[in-house]
Amino acid sequence: MSASEPLVLGIETSCDETGVGIVRGTDLLANEIASSVAEHARFGGVVPEVASRAHLEAIGPALQRACVTAGITLTDVDAVAVTAGPGLVGALIVGVATAKALAVGLGVPVYGVNHLASHVVVDELQHGPLPDPTIGLLVSGGHSSLLLVSDDAQVIQPLGQTLDDAAGEAFDKVARLLDLPFPGGPWIDRTAVDGDPQAIAFPRGLMNPGDRDRHPYDFSFSGLKTAVSRWLAARAAAGEDIPIADVAASFQEAVVDVLTAKAVGAARDLGVGHIVLGGGVAANSRLRALAQSRCEAAGITLRVPRPALCTDNGVMVAALGSRLARAGVASSPLEFPTTSSMAVTQRVW
Ligand code: KG4
Ligand code: ZN
Repeated sequence: MSASEPLVLGIETSCDETGVGIVRGTDLLANEIASSVAEHARFGGVVPEVASRAHLEAIGPALQRACVTAGITLTDVDAVAVTAGPGLVGALIVGVATAKALAVGLGVPVYGVNHLASHVVVDELQHGPLPDPTIGLLVSGGHSSLLLVSDDAQVIQPLGQTLDDAAGEAFDKVARLLDLPFPGGPWIDRTAVDGDPQAIAFPRGLMNPGDRDRHPYDFSFSGLKTAVSRWLAARAAAGEDIPIADVAASFQEAVVDVLTAKAVGAARDLGVGHIVLGGGVAANSRLRALAQSRCEAAGITLRVPRPALCTDNGVMVAALGSRLARAGVASSPLEFPTTSSMAVTQRVW
């Protein structure tokens, strides 16, 4: 680590995690997270107003903990980065207002950054600079996209995306059908360990030849969700027990089969030798394993951040801020807005 590299503080408040991260260059110094997920669980989804209030309570203590962990004081910070979108607007405002206040108080630049781009760039903290170009598979609760990432991760070109549900949304909805707690992704992952992924042949969205020609890099998960729901209803109507582990494993296999086939297909078609996974669903153990074996078979290098860096956190925002500061990119004007429906291509800074 070089002391000449900028010390960047990152703030993430787009959904239900209050994240504060600190990096110097590409070195991770602190990654503090406070989650309000338990407060949303009984509603089966994130309640925006509850999330905003929880961020307000958590942000101050998280900032203090991050400074202690990193062994710095706020006056050491060279730049502040914050998620400006996409996300819940009331939740985003808490982080953006905090970041702007810090930037003004400390007299340092502020970067309003794109949450989706930070999910892709965070891997640099673990595996070094992203090769140019890299295929990004971004799979989270709200987004599922295949991306072509180039120009030092500053240009992100969408190749395809979900036409309906995001991958994480499908995990959460199917978990609910199985009476598993919210958020369902990690529960399906754990439950599937004891199941047979081949037990039930659930459909693979946009994988038959006609659909694949028209939508080579797009995804669709709502038909899969409906198929699981129908399968469970038929089983219940027949008075039969539900083999939860087999359903979880077969559903999970259908999702990760499509995600990995399309990511490897995009890399092959475009002659790109690297794939990076990002977003909460990239924490999924079966996705990581299948992506690894398919990439190896295709001669592609796979990069996957450790699970704690895949789900929402502050250090991914700091990682993107750090990259921008190092590249000499101009910081954001102080009046930059929160943008709840920010596209993956949108740059705020
Ligand atoms: O990126 P993220 O933390 O928040 C958003 O930006 O959306 O992603 C959250 C999503 C949720 O849908 C959650 O169920 C899913 O990621 N997720 C998982 C796993 N861990 C989190 N899905 C499958 N397997 C996991 N292990
Ligand atoms: Zn996210």
